[in-house]
Amino acid sequence: DSPTQRVGAEPAKGFAEVQHPRPMLSLGNAFDDDEFMAWHNRVANLLEREDFDMVCELKFDGLAVALTYENGVFVRGATRGNGLTGEDVTQNLRTIKSIPLRTLTGKVPERFEVRGEVYFPKSEFQKFNEERAAQGQPTYANPRNTAAGSLRQLDSRMTAERPLDIFIYSLGYADGNGAMPDNHADTLAYLKGLGFRINPNVKLTHTPEETIDYYRTWLEKVESLDYGCDGIVIKVNRLDYQQHLGYVGREPRWAIAYKFPATQSITQLLDIGVSVGRTGSINPYAILEPVDVGGATVKQATLHNEDYIRSKDLRIGDWVVIERAGEVIPQVVSVITNRRTGAEKEFVMPTTCPNCGEPVVRPEGEAASYCVNAACPEQLVRLLEHFVSKGAMDIEGMGEKQGQALIEQGMVKDVADLYYLDKDELLKLDRMAEKSVSNLLEAIENSKIRPLARVLVALGVRHVGSEVGELLARHFSTIDALMKATEEELTSIPSIGPKIAETVVAYFSKESNQNVVEKLRAAGVRLADEAAAQPVEQLLSGMRFVVTGRLHNFSRSQIEGRIKELGGAVSGSVSRKTNYVVAGEDAGSKLADAQSLNVEVIDEEGFLELVTQSSKP
Ligand code: IVH
Repeated sequence: DSPTQRVGAEPAKGFAEVQHPRPMLSLGNAFDDDEFMAWHNRVANLLEREDFDMVCELKFDGLAVALTYENGVFVRGATRGNGLTGEDVTQNLRTIKSIPLRTLTGKVPERFEVRGEVYFPKSEFQKFNEERAAQGQPTYANPRNTAAGSLRQLDSRMTAERPLDIFIYSLGYADGNGAMPDNHADTLAYLKGLGFRINPNVKLTHTPEETIDYYRTWLEKVESLDYGCDGIVIKVNRLDYQQHLGYVGREPRWAIAYKFPATQSITQLLDIGVSVGRTGSINPYAILEPVDVGGATVKQATLHNEDYIRSKDLRIGDWVVIERAGEVIPQVVSVITNRRTGAEKEFVMPTTCPNCGEPVVRPEGEAASYCVNAACPEQLVRLLEHFVSKGAMDIEGMGEKQGQALIEQGMVKDVADLYYLDKDELLKLDRMAEKSVSNLLEAIENSKIRPLARVLVALGVRHVGSEVGELLARHFSTIDALMKATEEELTSIPSIGPKIAETVVAYFSKESNQNVVEKLRAAGVRLADEAAAQPVEQLLSGMRFVVTGRLHNFSRSQIEGRIKELGGAVSGSVSRKTNYVVAGEDAGSKLADAQSLNVEVIDEEGFLELVTQSSKP
């Protein structure tokens, strides 16, 4: 932790995955005073009082990270990722000077995590882009993407050259060692005392009117800030109230983001293009005269489908209002009809696929049109691109061009064919030399052991992204169990709704998809997670644990990991809903909480007994 040793010497090979001990959640949004008041009323009803204090903070537009400290030393920093799993970017975070490598006072919880937002200062952004342009390098679209790009540099020496900064906005968890503040405002003050950079514009408010005042003040002044800010965040101050309010899905009830209105700009719709998606959908998109929208250059906007274009009466050549809100894909909001010259042209949905020339149909009751050809090469190109991507099977050396070539040569007719490629055949392809072929085959071979969650994502089932993939893998552990699941079983998993359940069931009921799974299996792709081998698997489901104090045979995170593997939940504080507190030495306040709430306390041995005992039938 020497302050002169912030930069690592060797570039990293990639980023390791980090499981967040507590999920990194999202926030619900309010877009006007009524929506904010509705939130306030809901909270007041649940707390059975209206006079609760709130902490108002700015909502920074950067990248969320979690920083872990052990005995006062910065040991790990991770990106948010999908909220459950992020990437270990410790080396890069160490280069941010306002991140203390060691806390100012030594008297801190044994292990704790703070969360905050990394950002690229606005004042530096233009300078940075100008320098890149001068060196002939591509420029970045906005400070947010630049911060993201900087944090994901494999060589931390590159990150060190970028003026990233951070605001810490909460304590993720704290284990062991003494009393912590019982409210959020004092927690921020406490963290400031430890040397963390806290935004100075935090305000404690006592009434909804004061909170709305804070919002208005910052709506007027937001442009004067040297960092991106897209609204305010309002948090219930008292931590016991926060705990009482709890969560719905991935959002806390005790906090809300009150967003500033999105930024809009006007530009001309030059043309409407169509692309073929990996499900065969024909997706229209706007090709725009490039325009700056709130600091980002926008050249394209999504148009969703034919109905969307009709409902806006959009014509090629129109002047249109473009809106960009935070990270959302830019949207065409409206047409400025009084700028029409009469030369504008109506959009006609192509009747044949722009790629394979087969008919395009629009199924009854659906908004999207599809290419009828299940073997449409473009569809397969998109699917293959997705299959090999980083968040899926992560197969390096398979770019779009190679994918296209494999499909054109008939060597790949579905994604599973990747595992049956022949070296000599590959060598016949353009741009494929001995070295690149053997690298590619090795990357394909290595991908066979990806966790089940990634395989599920890779298949390209609609709505199954990394988060849903992980939920499904955790619940079913094997692809066979998932393939047999009914819609009811799927919707019984928290966060899986009927739409996802329906598409998953529909996907696996198709014979062609079943064949792909069988081909993957025959090729040796692992379609089950290791935990699946153990019959004790969902032993602790529905049970809540708190792990505290110094343990002997295991680290706390090992015990916590085991609880989660077995379907249990781990929480940072004891409540009436806690089933067991696993306590080691010097367990402190949590042990006292457990005793006063009559929650059963067990030690390490007790925990092992619990896990082995109940595994007997
Ligand atoms: S509190 C559950 N405070 O907003 C509490 N988040 O939509 C969530 N964010 O990923 C975090 N400024 O990256 C909090 N002052 C602030 C924030 C903030 C920006 C981001 C954060 C999170 C996202 C949630």
